[in-house]
Amino acid sequence: MQISLKGKIAVVTGGSRGIGRAIATTLAAAGATVVVNYQRNAAAAEETVAAITAADGAAISMQADVSAAEEVERLFKTVIERYGTVDILVNNAGITRDTLLLRMKEDDFDAVIDTNLRGVYLCTKAALRPMTKARSGRIINITSVVGLIGNAGQSNYAAAKAGIIGFTRAVAREMASRNITVNAVAPGYIETELTAGLGDQVRTAILEAIPLGRLGTPQDVANLVCFLASDAAAYITGQTLTVDGGMVMS
Ligand SMILES: NC(=O)c1ccc[n+]([C@@H]2O[C@H](COP(=O)([O-])OP(=O)(O)OC[C@H]3O[C@@H](n4cnc5c(N)ncnc54)[C@H](OP(=O)(O)O)[C@@H]3O)[C@@H](O)[C@H]2O)c1
Repeated sequence: MQISLKGKIAVVTGGSRGIGRAIATTLAAAGATVVVNYQRNAAAAEETVAAITAADGAAISMQADVSAAEEVERLFKTVIERYGTVDILVNNAGITRDTLLLRMKEDDFDAVIDTNLRGVYLCTKAALRPMTKARSGRIINITSVVGLIGNAGQSNYAAAKAGIIGFTRAVAREMASRNITVNAVAPGYIETELTAGLGDQVRTAILEAIPLGRLGTPQDVANLVCFLASDAAAYITGQTLTVDGGMVMS
């Protein structure tokens, strides 16, 4: 099976670093033109774009805070003015503000919900306008195994990520008749800046819980996203697929 995304326009939120960067480069390698969204780190976004163009792909970086309605509006308006449509949306931007619930400030809760869940709502709604017009589209939401099984110290993050799973199912049902599929990808522990701060003890405990015996790579996640974005995945919608080395089996 060969995956081609030639002629497709893809928006990857949080495409400047980590998993988002791997998703952006992989979609571009499959032929898509990729809009690399970022919030603050323009240099990292430019590095993603440079990696794509060095491999003869097409990409552009665009700044927008996905939790801010007017910035999301501006982002999609610019994409549509420039490229005419959006075929693929990957809602990847995410943050953590870990602490036990009894110590969690409202700010910690709100910030995580705003970026990780509200951002998915805002970007999905904006992308659905061109997708419903075209009567086709692919939306892929990056959730987490934490949204499935919970994690001490991450009640805000777990709530947002579980919210994404419910949102994915509801929108998949709403959009199926328009030939738009909506799926979620739930990574386990992946080697990125988000997990770089794990202490040795925690890392050892995590490795013991992973049947495949290693943390995942951003590329492990990007491979599945690329498949879900392709025609090969046309009959898959409303699903949450884990990429976690077998950590969660259901
Ligand atoms: N790493 C893991 O083990 C793991 C596991 C499960 C799920 N995930 C999920 O996978 C996704 C990517 O994680 P990662 O580990 O690659 O994270 P990361 O390395 O920390 O990168 C986060 C990305 O999100 C962007 N971002 C953050 N807030 C944003 C906002 N308000 N608007 C737009 N962009 C924003 C950042 O942009 P700037 O560069 O501009 O800051 C950056 O590109 C997240 O949704 C995360 O929850 C990660």
